Amino acid sequence: MIFDLRHKSGLGIKLDTSKPQLTFESGINSSQPGIRTLAEMREVLLDKTISVPADLYYMYRDVYKINDLAKLKENKLRYDITMIKPDMLGAELMKTAGHYHPGSFGELYEVVNGKCLCMLQRPNTADHMIIEEVIVVEARAGEKIVIPPGFGHILINPGPEYLVTSNWVSSEFKSEYDLYKLAGGAAYFVIKSKGGIEFKANPYFKKNATLTMLKPSPRIDKFGLKVDKPIYPLVTEDASKLGFLNRPLDFDYKDVFVK
Ligand SMILES: [Fe+2]
Repeated sequence: MIFDLRHKSGLGIKLDTSKPQLTFESGINSSQPGIRTLAEMREVLLDKTISVPADLYYMYRDVYKINDLAKLKENKLRYDITMIKPDMLGAELMKTAGHYHPGSFGELYEVVNGKCLCMLQRPNTADHMIIEEVIVVEARAGEKIVIPPGFGHILINPGPEYLVTSNWVSSEFKSEYDLYKLAGGAAYFVIKSKGGIEFKANPYFKKNATLTMLKPSPRIDKFGLKVDKPIYPLVTEDASKLGFLNRPLDFDYKDVFVK
């Protein structure tokens, strides 16, 4: 099936689930996606013995309208799209590997298609084996997720659709995957159970936080965010709203999630 993602992303993008792949209209820069394979993900899985699926998710890095490139560079921003299969990893829901950002850099995600659970975890700054806070943000297509400074994050696809997310992030850092690999996954594993889903604490951590389920704020004016209003056009319409991505500590993040 082919889904038109223009309305939700603000870009001429289609999702072709038969391949699976994204196709971009002319004038948009995109290269072949990086494909996250089962072999690369094994370390962060609850069941490390599974043999399928071979490919888990697809990362289209550095997507932009050719005409907007100067604006992205001037504002030190990068826009990526991630396409995550609706599938299972044994009993675990499909997920991304997870990473931290160096320093205080945050991130802005948007759900473009499907449903998303985003698990954020904040480790103690002196000991990464102590998790001080865990938030699971439940978001549907059109909603935005702000990653505050200090939080590592994974994306989970509860299905049944393809989960497609876009993100704005500073172009000034590289994500760090090592602590998630060392821990064998995130603070919690998300498992399918009879009544829905279940969270299983990752025994690697000396101290884990109680998990809080939250939702994204429907509107965050200081960052120019509103449900169903795509985040891509912010870079040309009002790039100052994305300033928090390069000056993360100049802002507060208390209002980015609601109960
Ligand atoms: Fe990130």
